[in-house]
Amino acid sequence: MEIKNYLNEQRQLVETAFDQFVPQAYGDFKDHIDAMRYSLLAGGKRIRPILCLASARAIAGISIEDQDILPTACALECIHTYSLVHDDLPAMDNDDLRRGKATNHVLYGEAGAILAGDGLLTWAFDLLSNPAHGNLDADKKLRITHCISRAAGSFGMVGGQALDIATENTRFPFKTLQTIHRSKTGALITASVIAGGIAAGASHAQLNSLENYGNQIGLAFQIVDDLLNATSTTEQLGKAAGSDAELGKATYPSYFGIEETRKRAKKAVEEAKNCLADFDNKARPLRLLADYIYTRSH
Ligand code: IPE
Ligand code: IPE
Ligand code: MG
Ligand code: MG
Repeated sequence: MEIKNYLNEQRQLVETAFDQFVPQAYGDFKDHIDAMRYSLLAGGKRIRPILCLASARAIAGISIEDQDILPTACALECIHTYSLVHDDLPAMDNDDLRRGKATNHVLYGEAGAILAGDGLLTWAFDLLSNPAHGNLDADKKLRITHCISRAAGSFGMVGGQALDIATENTRFPFKTLQTIHRSKTGALITASVIAGGIAAGASHAQLNSLENYGNQIGLAFQIVDDLLNATSTTEQLGKAAGSDAELGKATYPSYFGIEETRKRAKKAVEEAKNCLADFDNKARPLRLLADYIYTRSH
């Protein structure tokens, strides 16, 4: 299996599911839903939903139906996209390019972008809790919803974003940088992996391994984001390169330089794969995804 083909195929699966699981823009709320759809459908690697699907398949193989995991996978992408819309706002990172396109607030205004983000976040919980979607039992849905809420909120992504903003242009211990990375980015990535495991009926021990794997790839993901910000181009990334230094953000390269940062990202990916030692070949996509997180170019 080639990772490129796998990613393309899985991305298409997720994007087709958006037709079913994302509101259409018509009626009284047309403009607001247009703004939500603009950022959600702007592209993106769809890594979180793909991790969720791969994790479910690592446990249950083909015996779990796509329809049972796709609402969760789509919800994760809604939450992630909302975080990007808000992250780009003038009050936060003040970016005007995302996924190769104008950022949401450039097109819809600040109020429109804040509300598009609010709409995407809230829609995720509609998807997760809607009894009409898929055949997961209510207990699994509840556990998945709790896991994702915790990761997205003040002890996860939102808390990490708050720390990221509060520490701009300050010097702080490396331990704080680790906390920022784990929370602003790692938490939702780990939750994506765990959610897939819960959907597939993973045992306690399997969920533990998936959590450890998620923590390592989540860390690697943000380290590589920092590296790319420092070393790549705006064209390649589809978002502003060099912006971390401009905004006075502490990053792995600002602590360790480029080469040591690369080593640390690679180490996290190797540790992630070690966490899957007890998994069989059904976990191959999870192993390949870990490698991809290190080798990705955008
Ligand atoms: C970017 O996430 C923001 C971070 C959390 C590092 P992605 O690199 O997954 O962005 P898209 O979804 O592919 O645009
Ligand atoms: C984004 O972090 C993290 C979230 C949106 C939660 P960054 O601000 O470092 O990511 P980019 O570089 O804008 O994608
Ligand atoms: Mg940011
Ligand atoms: Mg940003």
